Parts: sequence; structure tokens; C-alpha cells
Amino acid sequence: MFLATSIVTTIALLMLFLLPKSYSSEITKSNSSLPEVDIDLLEFPLNLEYLEAEFFLYGALGYGLDKFAPNLTLGGPTPIGGKRANLGPFTRDVIKQFALQEVGHLRAIQSTVKGFPRPLLNLSAESFAKVVDSAFETQLVPSFDPYRNGLNFLLASYLIPYVGLTGYVGASTKLQDPKSKRLVAGLLGVESGQDAVIRALLYRYKNIKVKPYRKTVAEFTNRFSQLRDKLGNAGVKDEGLMVPKDEGAEGLITGNVLAGDRYSVAYDRTPKEILRIVYGSGDERKPGGFYPKGADGRIAKSHLSKA
Ligand SMILES: *[C@@H]1O[C@H](CO)[C@@H](O)[C@H](O)[C@H]1NC(C)=O
Ligand SMILES: *[C@@H]1O[C@H](CO)[C@@H](O)[C@H](O)[C@H]1NC(C)=O
Ligand SMILES: *[C@@H]1O[C@H](CO)[C@@H](O)[C@H](O)[C@H]1NC(C)=O
Repeated sequence: MFLATSIVTTIALLMLFLLPKSYSSEITKSNSSLPEVDIDLLEFPLNLEYLEAEFFLYGALGYGLDKFAPNLTLGGPTPIGGKRANLGPFTRDVIKQFALQEVGHLRAIQSTVKGFPRPLLNLSAESFAKVVDSAFETQLVPSFDPYRNGLNFLLASYLIPYVGLTGYVGASTKLQDPKSKRLVAGLLGVESGQDAVIRALLYRYKNIKVKPYRKTVAEFTNRFSQLRDKLGNAGVKDEGLMVPKDEGAEGLITGNVLAGDRYSVAYDRTPKEILRIVYGSGDERKPGGFYPKGADGRIAKSHLSKA
């Protein structure tokens, strides 16, 4: 009797220890079981997460992953031209939080799929100035400098999480495994949150002129969004902070603190559309812009090889 009880107790105790262990090894093993389509779609956004992590880290702290979390670079080259931005304490605090969130996103993706090293990133002021000049179809004088002050940095940030957000929405219909869907939904949630914070902070200043230009914050965002639509070449999937009334929520309002389709549902973009935008070339086969040597992973490389 005593023996039987102690055997039962031992088994119960063993199960207590073994169950959580096998559950956690199930999680770490999960990548091996993901279908190829999921692996490709989870690896692709690493390109954007590296860009976001580096831009926000540099902007807030003056250094990037090489110093902050070198392992996460998987040995990729140091970005070009990243700088500590001239931010006030409030904006710096927010951007630092974004930076740390992006570091988390890199960890989340890299612990699910093998990934690839950080691609070469061009974060120079000139790189952003080029986007701004294309957006306005004229050369701004002096050229736009994202690191100059908080407002400029937020305007440059307007360019970044939103692209990732549309990509996650786009991936959602193609993913197969619930684990991939869960991860992408989680990443999408926080990317959308970052976009919302950036837009809300800018919305407050929508009618303010961005010094020294005679253009308002709203005009900057409207131009950026039009440029992305043009480069993406797949219709309207982007909207600035002010829209014609019939394009606002329910066709009833010109303020557009969040972008969405006519039902205020988030737009989606394919990897091809995203590459056309972030390369600044309008062509997924022609790298440039923030990615002088192109993005990495099977999806991006399959287009580069067609160049
Ligand atoms: C980073 O990589 C090195 C070498 O592979 C390893 O020794 C170290 O534990 C890693 N650090 C972290 C924080 O993962
Ligand atoms: C899962 O991915 C991690 C990170 O890339 C890798 O170290 C690990 O070996 C992978 N596990 C399996 C079972 O493939
Ligand atoms: C970074 O971008 C700027 C602006 O397009 C360009 O002048 C510069 O050559 C780029 N740097 C590299 C290494 O590609």
C-alpha cells in the first residue's frame, strides 16, 4: 500500500516536472515543423525589423545592434549613416521604447525561424532626404534631415512601421501553421500600435509648417503616402493625415489619424510591393534606398536574381 502510494506520488511528481519541460521543448522545436511558405513569410519581415530596430536605436541612443545586441545581427554589416537624433526627452523616451520593441521582434522571429544576417542598411540623412525629395518631386533646400529634431524624426518614422504593418496583414492569408499566425498577429499588433503613436503625435501638429520648408506636417504625410502608393504600384494602400472627406472613415471626415480602407480595415501589401517601396526604385528587382545591396531571405533574393 505504502509502495503503491509512493509510486503514484513519484509518477505524479515526475509528470509535474516533465510536462512543462516537454511543452517548452515543443516551442523551441516549433521552427523545424513549419511549412516552407511560413518560413519564407516569417523571414521576409526580418528585413524591415532590422531597419526599424537600427533606425530607432540610433535615433534614441546613438548606436545600434552592434553595441546593443550584437548576436541579433547574425554578423551582418554595420548600417551606414545612423545617428543619435536631436530629440526632446518625451520623443526620445518613446523612440527608445520602439527600439526595444523592435529588438524583441527580432528575437521573436529569430527564435522561430533561422533567419539571415542583417542586410546592409543605409540610414544616412541623405537616404531619407532622397525619399522626401521624391515625395515632393522637387529638391528641398536645405535637404531634409531626419536627425535634426523630434518632428523630423517622427516624420521619418512615419515611413517605417506602416510598411511592416501592411506586410503582416498581407502575410496573414498565406500562413498555414497556427504558430506562425499567432506570431504575425502579435507583431502586427505592436507595429500598428507604433504607427498609431507616430501618427497621433504628428496629427497634433498637422497644420504646423516643417521648418524651414513652407509645407505642413499633413502635406509631408500625404506626399509620403502618395509616393508609397506610386512605388508599390498596386492601387491606394496608404493615406496621409488629412484626406478628402469621401476617403475618411465612413466617407464622413477629413481627419485621418489612422489609415484604413473604406471600412477602416487595414490595407495589405505583398512582399513585392514592399520591396518596390523600401528600395525606392518601384522595382522589386532593383535594390537601393534603405537597402543598397537588397533585402535578404528567399523571397527578396528570388526577385534580385531576376535583375
Ligand atoms: C552571443 O553569442 C556568443 C557567441 O556565440 C555567446 O557566447 C553569447 O552567449 C551570446 N549572447 C547572448 C546574449 O545570446
Ligand atoms: C530553430 O531556430 C533557431 C534560431 O534560428 C535555431 O537555433 C534552432 O536550431 C532551430 N531549431 C530547429 C529544431 O530547427
Ligand atoms: C546612402 O544613400 C545616399 C542617398 O541615396 C547615397 O548618396 C549614398 O551613396 C548611400 N550609401 C551607400 C553606401 O549606398
